[in-house]
Amino acid sequence: MNRIAVLTSGGDAPGMNAAIRSVVRKAIYEGLEVSGVFHGYQGLIDGKIEQFQLGSVGDIIQRGGTILRSARCPEFMTEAGREKAYNQLKLHGIDGVVIIGGDGSFRGAYELVKLGIPCACVPATIDNDINGTQFTIGFDTALNTVVEAIDKIRDTATSHERSFIIEVMGRDAGDLALWAGLGGGAESILLPEKAFDVNEIVQRIKQSTGRGKKHSIIVLAEGMMPAHNLAEILKKEAGVETRVSILGHMQRGGSPSARDRVIASQYGSRAVESLIEGKQSVAIGMRNHKVVDYNLEEVFTKREKLDLSLLDLAQTLSI
Ligand code: ADP
Ligand code: F6P
Repeated sequence: MNRIAVLTSGGDAPGMNAAIRSVVRKAIYEGLEVSGVFHGYQGLIDGKIEQFQLGSVGDIIQRGGTILRSARCPEFMTEAGREKAYNQLKLHGIDGVVIIGGDGSFRGAYELVKLGIPCACVPATIDNDINGTQFTIGFDTALNTVVEAIDKIRDTATSHERSFIIEVMGRDAGDLALWAGLGGGAESILLPEKAFDVNEIVQRIKQSTGRGKKHSIIVLAEGMMPAHNLAEILKKEAGVETRVSILGHMQRGGSPSARDRVIASQYGSRAVESLIEGKQSVAIGMRNHKVVDYNLEEVFTKREKLDLSLLDLAQTLSI
């Protein structure tokens, strides 16, 4: 392993820059050459590849987004596109690639592995939905963003004695909604992992207003249903009026939390180590407070369930 490349792909996540910095600095520390690939897999196909120095990643640890930019690249889903990417890697003398992204980006990496390119995948997505790791880069920052939004909405909800539905990102996963709902003290949390029961929600709203609560917060994971549909159902079936707040892409922005910077630094460094050790196909992650690398295939074959005991706790505490 003489030269490696690093790219960011898929939906961006706060902390991607800290991970890029870690990969570049660790690689140079270990005596490797390192290149940055711009615009994810599209940049690999188009040869947007630049050699990085220590200074290339200066002053980025605190910045949201990704200096390498990110992209969703349909061309990489084709054999012809991947062949172009392979040829570019060979042309630039690149022996291994660190891919920072989500589940889709990892699938792309697996295709590169099949072509004989060693890949180390660093999980970065606010959805926290990658099998094999307890935490992905960006989840903690997004969680804090959502909790802050809930706090603000709670102020106006209390003033006007209103019920609010707050729609949270997460694609098909309920992690962000669940943690934010618990951290924000929501009365109800609706997740794709749990069947929806309108009566239960209405019951909870009535229960809390009955004991003098002046507002009600429902945190809804986007993967469950669109917020306006839920508002419609609550109005039609129980006469409950709600206001809807869809938080949207603000959840993906902002300076990464200290925790995201720390895990990004750890994951990036471990990714470089795994390539140096000769590993061909790994994902990096966190298990029981330890940084680990594991076989990339585990990401696609195992299906981990959300810890629904957190939901039970949230409901117990918001009676
Ligand atoms: P994320 O990495 O955040 O989950 P996507 O699912 O959009 O984001 O995936 C990012 C990119 O990874 C896609 O645009 C595509 O270029 C590549 N990719 C995803 N799935 C595959 C696949 N099965 N084969 C090859 N490339 C893939
Ligand atoms: O995967 C990250 C994520 O922000 C999801 O939570 C969300 O469903 C999706 O990306 C939004 O994608 P886009 O940026 O294409 O609108």
